[in-house]
Amino acid sequence: MPLTAHVDERQHLIIGGCDTNDLAQRFGTPLWIIDYATIEQSVESCKLGLAAYPNGSIHYAGKAFMCLAMAKIVKRLGLGLDVVSEGELYTALKAELEPSKLLLHGNNKSESELRMALKHGVKIVVDGISELSLVAKIAAETKKTADILVRLMPGVEPDTHHYIQTGGTDSKFGLPIDELDDFISIVLGLKDSIRFRGIHTHIGSQSHDLTPYLEIADILADVVLYLKDNYEVPVEIVDVGGGLGIAYVKEDTPLPIHDWAAGLAKQVIRAFSERGIELPELILEPGRSIIGSAGVTVYRAGHEKTVASGTRYVALDGGMADNPRPATYNARYTAAIANRMNAESTQTTTTLVGRYCESGDIIIKDAGIPAKSGDLIAVFATGAYNYSMASNYNRTGRPACVLVKDGSAEVILERETNEDLLSQDRVPAWLSD
Ligand SMILES: Cc1ncc(COP(=O)(O)O)c(C=O)c1O
Repeated sequence: MPLTAHVDERQHLIIGGCDTNDLAQRFGTPLWIIDYATIEQSVESCKLGLAAYPNGSIHYAGKAFMCLAMAKIVKRLGLGLDVVSEGELYTALKAELEPSKLLLHGNNKSESELRMALKHGVKIVVDGISELSLVAKIAAETKKTADILVRLMPGVEPDTHHYIQTGGTDSKFGLPIDELDDFISIVLGLKDSIRFRGIHTHIGSQSHDLTPYLEIADILADVVLYLKDNYEVPVEIVDVGGGLGIAYVKEDTPLPIHDWAAGLAKQVIRAFSERGIELPELILEPGRSIIGSAGVTVYRAGHEKTVASGTRYVALDGGMADNPRPATYNARYTAAIANRMNAESTQTTTTLVGRYCESGDIIIKDAGIPAKSGDLIAVFATGAYNYSMASNYNRTGRPACVLVKDGSAEVILERETNEDLLSQDRVPAWLSD
């Protein structure tokens, strides 16, 4: 739940000082609600943990949730930002984030994305040898020198769904470590167009403990030593990615973000000191652990039915188009009845389903709440990878999103209207009459 969540005397769910029932009335449902205080607290805890490191910085991973207001929050809280597309980069630049605090990621960046990054002096995290050639070509053409990091495939995987593991040896992300010599040899021949700044890795998402990161610290320190000893190439920046999990259901017990940052700082210091190497700048890239529990989605419950198996289905007015995670990788969530928070939990198998035309559009199986038609259903921890993965499936507009803080709520993403849906449509002349 967000930090500010509590229940008032009417048994309504309050977030950021706002009654979620009033928000639903005012802005409609489904509605994404983002609690500013929760974001701020996660960031402050992360900073406090990282304070154990002499030269550390936090880059929020924009893919978790990005819009102009979020980019402004990133700026206000003094973070750097990771972007993975032209759209995210454009949003960051429009929010006047300093380009030197941006990193462009991606396993298949387009020429246009690379040109935009180079034009603004944004560092590029290069994914492999063929991308290195493309970056060098564009840099030479535009008479720029690209500041690059290389993303390594470290062969370490967190204990999470395989769709969100990225660090193994069979991954579409990063440079296999055994290609590092070739990569560096090419870099050394491209001194005018490429400035090698550092190494990066990201092992995957929703990791609950430090174990995989401990291995990462040693692998990265070995790489830095290898580059120093064999090529006299200094590594200024070591970026260990993001991936810290959050609690979606009561069985989830992730490490607090402070301990994750402090633990990483300690391990990197140990790994580098043991090898006698100067400490590089350390970057952490948390996404979900900054924004995930700040988000709550409220839905209005519609029709109910109980089928032969005994399952009771309660249909929500949203579903897989605003939250594709359960259908994509069986993500689990926790819900409450925001208009009667004292409703006793129940053994009845109430399954909260979405309104979209897929049987797999199930938001929570056996939700354990006695939801009924007309209730306002709050689904927690929807701040990360909900809006950013949302779609217009069944030609529905995406919900509005409000930012709540100290009792006030402001729209940061307007609800998409039917007109918005039509705005990109074009009809060939021969079909027009
Ligand atoms: C390169 C990189 N950095 C950071 C993140 C953020 O991960 P999380 O939101 O799990 O912290 C991701 C997520 O996929 C990523 O690919």
